[in-house]
Amino acid sequence: MPDRGEAVVRVRAISLNRGEVRRSGLAAAGWRPGWDLAGEVERAAADGSGPRVATRVVGLLSEGAWAERVAVPTSALAALPDKVTLSQAATFPVAGLTALHALARGGPLLGRRVLVTGATGGVGDFAVQLARLAGAHVTASARRADQAPALRRLGAHEVVVGDEIPPSPKYDLVIESVGGRTLGTALAALEGGGVCVTLGVSAAAEVTFDAREFFFAGRTTLYGFYLFKELRSEPASVGLRRLADLVAAGQLTPHVSLERPWGEIGQVAQDLMARRFPGKAVLTLD
Ligand SMILES: NC(=O)c1ccc[n+]([C@@H]2O[C@H](COP(=O)([O-])OP(=O)(O)OC[C@H]3O[C@@H](n4cnc5c(N)ncnc54)[C@H](OP(=O)(O)O)[C@@H]3O)[C@@H](O)[C@H]2O)c1
Repeated sequence: MPDRGEAVVRVRAISLNRGEVRRSGLAAAGWRPGWDLAGEVERAAADGSGPRVATRVVGLLSEGAWAERVAVPTSALAALPDKVTLSQAATFPVAGLTALHALARGGPLLGRRVLVTGATGGVGDFAVQLARLAGAHVTASARRADQAPALRRLGAHEVVVGDEIPPSPKYDLVIESVGGRTLGTALAALEGGGVCVTLGVSAAAEVTFDAREFFFAGRTTLYGFYLFKELRSEPASVGLRRLADLVAAGQLTPHVSLERPWGEIGQVAQDLMARRFPGKAVLTLD
């Protein structure tokens, strides 16, 4: 039975994230994977909050979204404008909200220098576009030179290639999801007063860095980011609606590079972990 503040959603699309795929291989029996979902409201919340029956919605759960029907708190649900497809919407919750909230740690970004590492991934793709939209000078970091043209088309002014960040130029904000050498060297590329938001360890969790380079810049901050904790200060519904409106207005384009039926989740999850495609993968349910 759903709680009074939960709507029942018929799920039509989900997108995959590294964290939930990783965890689904390690979790104890009984844990139900799945964070991102999009679909239609089948039963509105009993307390009258949130979207009505038949409304197309996007939602975020802390677990259990890989299902045909789910109960979603209305605070983590947003109605979708007609122009936004369910596949596009399924990419918003973890990847889109992470990019949105991580960029917010840098304050107003107009004219600021922002570095996005892991820029070809789900989070990075949103972060590059949103930082550009916010008026930042955007540098994308990628592993290979052949990834640079796509990142420039996405909105990056500059692209740095390889797992190390050069010590100059300096950045006011770094959105860092790679870890290891990339995080270690990014810390030495912060402007005085700059913030490095560390949110992922796609390459390595252990990091060494030159502490002098980090503190000599002065008033530098390393910010540990975990989406579900960030959402304690602003419900997911708010950011999901902002992302949906930006897509509807043609200002933001979710990068769905793979769309497959739900039955292919095993293969798609393996392809994600092996980094066989850029952007996001979406799985559809009839
Ligand atoms: N803290 C949080 O709340 C939070 C929220 C969302 C995501 N995350 C984490 O943030 C990271 C990025 O998420 P995502 O959804 O963007 O992941 P993703 O789609 O798999 O993208 C991974 C990105 O990292 C790059 N990368 C560099 N070295 C890598 C390596 N050794 N192995 C794999 N990728 C490597 C990839 O480059 P190529 O394209 O060249 O492979 C790609 O740009 C993940 O580790 C995820 O678990 C954390």
